[in-house]
Amino acid sequence: MQTLQTTSLRVRDNRLWILDQQALPQQKAWLDASSVEALVAHIHALRVRGAPLIGLSASLLLALLAENGMAKAALAQALDVLRAARPTAVNLMNNLDRMKLALAQEDYVAALSAEALRLVAEDKILCDNIARAGSERVAPGSRILTHCNTGGLATAGVGTALGVIAHAFQEGKIEQVWVDETRPLLQGGRLTAWELGELGIPYRLICDSMAATLMAQKQVDAVWVGADRIAANGDVANKIGTYSLAVLAHFHQIPFYVAAPHTTLDPHCPDGSAIPIEQRAAAEITGVAGSFGQVQWAPENAQVWNPAFDVTPAALISGWVLDTGVVTPEEVAAGRFQPH
Ligand code: MRU
Repeated sequence: MQTLQTTSLRVRDNRLWILDQQALPQQKAWLDASSVEALVAHIHALRVRGAPLIGLSASLLLALLAENGMAKAALAQALDVLRAARPTAVNLMNNLDRMKLALAQEDYVAALSAEALRLVAEDKILCDNIARAGSERVAPGSRILTHCNTGGLATAGVGTALGVIAHAFQEGKIEQVWVDETRPLLQGGRLTAWELGELGIPYRLICDSMAATLMAQKQVDAVWVGADRIAANGDVANKIGTYSLAVLAHFHQIPFYVAAPHTTLDPHCPDGSAIPIEQRAAAEITGVAGSFGQVQWAPENAQVWNPAFDVTPAALISGWVLDTGVVTPEEVAAGRFQPH
């Protein structure tokens, strides 16, 4: 396969590399992800993460395995294992459904490679379209609050919600970004803060629990988040803590926007209650682990509830900014959650 480079994916010499999103921002380490076992381990550990990126990494790996001689039956098995790597972000399943069609072709090696590269190229365009459509909804002088990480690290392009923010910043409309640290794994504090710094966009980091007070003090003009899966009625699964922000924004009458590509839509989920929510390890809540080592602050054997995502009901959302345009609450209330 041709050489390929995005912010956090790299293909070189027919091997797949990922930028370790657990080591950022202290270290910029590229890790080999050229086997199913390696990529699944990276996905489980959130070294590669973000709804679009998970799907793209799995698709590229499948294409590389085919080019490196893996037999068709083994590729089909690999596809199933990759598909099950994380349950909530539907981009993984949507991308691999397309790869499955490529695998069914006679010249499957060329077809898989072409399809994986097409998915990456498309994702860049989807991000650009979201950024343009979203920026139209950003008022001049905006102080935007965002959650988790939805930037170039999580996609092949400029990102989704963060892409909107970057585009609006280029148009001179952003005064400042409030970055939720995003407990427990700190995608906001580590990754979004790093990306905003690289882009030269002014930001201030807050603990998730500070958003209510900021809103009450009228220091937030809009909330922009990404999505891991959007149900047929417009309910949105996204990083845990998103729902709290939506409730707060509703109470304080602040617009709450969701930005996502159409690859995040799941017409088979009638509403949010049908979206599978990943439960993660207790250690993420009872302490912290990183390049500095591991610390536990909770008592030994503390019982933990650690869902990676929550569901925001459609009624709390001011607009779904897709690559195809903005779906409005009026359209959704009329029973039509359709990309334009
Ligand atoms: O657990 P993560 O870090 O993969 O969760 C990511 C999110 O919730 C993002 O908001 C979502 O995937 C959109 S990324 C463009």
